[in-house]
Amino acid sequence: MVLVGVDLGTSSVKMLLMEENGDIKKIVTREYPLSIPRPGWSEQNPEDWWNAFKDGLAELLSEADHSQVAGISFSGQMHGLVILDGEDNVIRPAILWNDGRTQKECDYLNKTIGREKISSYTGNMALTGFTAPKILWVKENEPENFAKINKIMLPKDYIAYRLSGVHCTDVSDASGMLLLDVKNKKWSKEMLELCSINESQLAKLHESYEAVGTLTAAIAAELDLPQTVKVVAGGGDQAVGAVGTGTVGHGMCSVSLGTSGTVFIVSKEFAVDDANALHSFAHADGQFHFMGCTLAAAASNKWWMDEIIRTTAYGDEQKGITNDKLGKNGVYYLPYLMGERTPINNPNARGTFTGLMMNTSREDMTQAVLEGVAFSLRDALEIARSFGVTIDRIRINGGGSKSPLWCKIMANVMNVKVDKINSAEGPAFGAAILAAVGCGFYPSVKDATSKLISVVETTEQDADLVALYDKRYQVWKQLYPAMKDVFDVMAEAEV
Ligand code: XUL
Repeated sequence: MVLVGVDLGTSSVKMLLMEENGDIKKIVTREYPLSIPRPGWSEQNPEDWWNAFKDGLAELLSEADHSQVAGISFSGQMHGLVILDGEDNVIRPAILWNDGRTQKECDYLNKTIGREKISSYTGNMALTGFTAPKILWVKENEPENFAKINKIMLPKDYIAYRLSGVHCTDVSDASGMLLLDVKNKKWSKEMLELCSINESQLAKLHESYEAVGTLTAAIAAELDLPQTVKVVAGGGDQAVGAVGTGTVGHGMCSVSLGTSGTVFIVSKEFAVDDANALHSFAHADGQFHFMGCTLAAAASNKWWMDEIIRTTAYGDEQKGITNDKLGKNGVYYLPYLMGERTPINNPNARGTFTGLMMNTSREDMTQAVLEGVAFSLRDALEIARSFGVTIDRIRINGGGSKSPLWCKIMANVMNVKVDKINSAEGPAFGAAILAAVGCGFYPSVKDATSKLISVVETTEQDADLVALYDKRYQVWKQLYPAMKDVFDVMAEAEV
């Protein structure tokens, strides 16, 4: 039998066909437009997702025996608001995760109602990308649309609905709505009240690996698929991406060195840090996860290479950073080129080099960039460690993980072993794995990932270097508090 994993992203949908034994047969991608009706806004038409999905699926299955398709599941761009009327028609374009129109609504939730209260209801604070502030925005700015809302959905759930006719969602994606009582995995009555909505307007909650239904007769006929094909809930892209790297089970941690950098930590227990610096979300494996995000990770290195020293030979620039130089660099870099999320949540923060002297070299600054990103990711890891989660190894992925030097710096800054795995397909692979679990080919997500995903290379830390980097981290940590007021004054001067 075969499974289909769908990764509904922001610029495209990627679909992957997998045999039940984990072999990947084919991958197909279809793009769709992103609309920016005003600066800082970001919208998409759910019909475009659906058409791209159907078109891609036809190619994905063009050489396959359709009777062998057992199930389909999803990874979805998170937080987007999709609203349907009483006839299940989309009321307005979806407002996406990277849309920044809701600062006023976030201030209302975090300041007027109070961050601690919102966190006690949901486990998180309001961020402009999250779904609940978007509902408040529609209520305030488009009351005629608000009055029509019969169902509130997340992007991937719209595809599941079109396939199965079921209004469903899963706990990992729902965690990013700021409507879920994440700890108890149920909708928060207080948040629903604050947003003037009721539970019947929300989708039914599932674990990510649960089947929500099968294809409707009409869709099965249209797609030329058996009606028995199971539609499995799926999850948010971070959680399903983690499934795709085998980051499943208590204490597992993955770190992504993509454009932005993420630290994703699985925990069997729910926990929240005092400052809500980490997201506390449900995971797609039935447990929970903490997530920290540094906005300019590989983007910092790309900026430094492309824009400043103007080279495309990233590897050559790192050749001069020999082992004897690690842990001894006097140059420090704060990677806040786009402001920062974790742990400081400050859009006013800025990138900063310090410690420069007459003998500072180009290599020292390149090294400082790699180290500064590692330090900022360690910040997120330290918060999770403060909950008592022991993290002694991480799974590394994303473009930056191609650099052996950066992997070594990560291992020693974080004091962990850094593992690389046998698959680079991330969320689409994770979605196919969830489909396989939902169809009963594996008893659990953990069982599936242990069988299908393995470590192919490990970078180990060195005790002396860990100690040197720890000293540097303690210095680096003082930079942001020292600069914070200056960043605020700089932001004021910009307007
Ligand atoms: C997670 C997040 C992104 C989006 C877009 O909090 O904002 O992962 O889901 O991919």
